[in-house]
Amino acid sequence: MRKKITIIGAGNVGATAAHWAVVRGLGDVVLLDVVEGVPQGKALDLWQSGPVENFAFGVKGSNDYADTAGSDIVIITAGLARKPGMSRDDLLAINVSIVKTCAEEAVKYSPDCVLIVVTNPIDAMVYTAFKVSGLPRNRVIGMAGVLDSARYRTFLADAIGVAPMDVNAMVMGIHGDKMMPLVRLANVAGIPITDLLSEEKINEIVKRTQVGGMEIVNHLKTGSAFYTPGLSAIEMAEAILKDSKRVLPCAAYLEGEFGISGCFLGVPVVLGEKGVERIIEFKLTGEEKAAMNESVAAVQDQMTATGL
Ligand code: LAC
Repeated sequence: MRKKITIIGAGNVGATAAHWAVVRGLGDVVLLDVVEGVPQGKALDLWQSGPVENFAFGVKGSNDYADTAGSDIVIITAGLARKPGMSRDDLLAINVSIVKTCAEEAVKYSPDCVLIVVTNPIDAMVYTAFKVSGLPRNRVIGMAGVLDSARYRTFLADAIGVAPMDVNAMVMGIHGDKMMPLVRLANVAGIPITDLLSEEKINEIVKRTQVGGMEIVNHLKTGSAFYTPGLSAIEMAEAILKDSKRVLPCAAYLEGEFGISGCFLGVPVVLGEKGVERIIEFKLTGEEKAAMNESVAAVQDQMTATGL
């Protein structure tokens, strides 16, 4: 049966996610936005690429949640993006109310969907969607780890002089400056990066990864990254729709895993048809635990600010 993917928010991230969804042949796409005309125009344009890209899926733009009914996946990208000088937390108040409406409306029409939240600050926005949607924790997931890990892997590959897909590396924790690019487990085809790069270079890459979003905001000046954020959400959607059991770092609701409870945080998860099918726990070093705790404190501040 054909799958249906709804993407809420027809800005740069939403439109890019829609693009990747049809290129990867995931299913019919509905692009929804409150602004009249923008989702319709972008969807029409994308739909017309079918004969050239060889896809046979529908791409529909809409302002009406009724058009999203029966979606397997709903990706929430709606909300304001950062401008230079703004932290992700500066977006919190306005984006809470936007994400609340999106999650409530989406679930009304697609009660069986898996929700993927991309709006910033992601860890608080995915918590907002979880609270208002009433969905079980396995079906509400935040996108951040795939993006942050992709940045980390790209910088490592560039420094080592190898193909980025041969770099295995993961970023855990908050999607913010306190995120945790894991050094101990990062490797190239199994070879530890600590054998390939100096400590100084690794520290530089870790730092660049942590502020990787801001580096792009500072270039763009009017918004934030969208190619890799949009693709990262689709990478997660594909793993769920194809039930592939891929292990991807995602913001998942923790209930005791890694000794943490009651918040969303970036951890390695197994993604399948049920959404988060398993959180893969492993032993952290004392230093890693301390870094995770810093992430937890920052996420808890954000959660409090949501008022939920
Ligand atoms: C970034 C934004 C999307 O990290 O948070 O680029």
